[in-house]
Amino acid sequence: MTKSPKINVLFIADIVGKPGLDITSRFLSSLLRQYNVDFCIANGENAHEGKSITPSEFSVFRQVGIDVITSGNHIWDHHKGRRLLDDETTLLRPLNYPDGSPGSGSGVYALSKGGEIAVLNLQGRTFMYPIDCPFRRGKKEVEQLRKKTPLIIVDIHAEATAEKQALAWYLDGMVSAVIGTHTHVQTADERILPEGTAYISDAGMTGPFDSVIGLDKKVALQRFIGGVPQRYQMAHDNIRMNAVLVSINQETGKALSIERISLP
Ligand SMILES: [Fe+2]
Ligand SMILES: [Fe+2]
Repeated sequence: MTKSPKINVLFIADIVGKPGLDITSRFLSSLLRQYNVDFCIANGENAHEGKSITPSEFSVFRQVGIDVITSGNHIWDHHKGRRLLDDETTLLRPLNYPDGSPGSGSGVYALSKGGEIAVLNLQGRTFMYPIDCPFRRGKKEVEQLRKKTPLIIVDIHAEATAEKQALAWYLDGMVSAVIGTHTHVQTADERILPEGTAYISDAGMTGPFDSVIGLDKKVALQRFIGGVPQRYQMAHDNIRMNAVLVSINQETGKALSIERISLP
């Protein structure tokens, strides 16, 4: 078989709790076929009832065809998630947490059609915990990853659109895609930057849409209006799946197209 120069990567937006897992299980196998997906990444920071991920969600993810799971600030919310980070090389946490944090922030993985692809997880600092600089730490890591493969997908888990856009310009031409996560609302700004990096500010959410970014509406309102902390409670209605499909030239690592997906 001749080697195809094109690689299709599916990135599934933050999967929230059992509703998110269920809809991913329902749609993923047909999506993988329909789009000839070579590699599938999902953000799993909210997989366990909205907070972190445990071995049971992790094994479902792997069984349904997700190759690598990225995360973000919520990965630390469950002790089993912390332990999983040390046990599983296909589960990442943002790279720019201080040295010595559990797990790792990037990985290089084999593609079934040959060659390798790298995934890098970063986290923003604007309106978030002030961890290490995602720009400097990110670029340093990209330079190392590029010694192994030009195919690099970056999950920038951040609150501020400006910070995500800035990172995409900073890494334009050095990585295949910069995909935003964390805000749980899919943005309509997908594009390919001049040097060949695909970009979207946020991939969205895979979970209950009749909610406040996955949280039960009543609880969210109590939090905002009452000002008193309330226990997290997941919503369950109007479940949707958000994702992004990126096609990449396998030899150059440059993006050919980026497409938003929202189901059903
Ligand atoms: Fe999230
Ligand atoms: Fe987050």
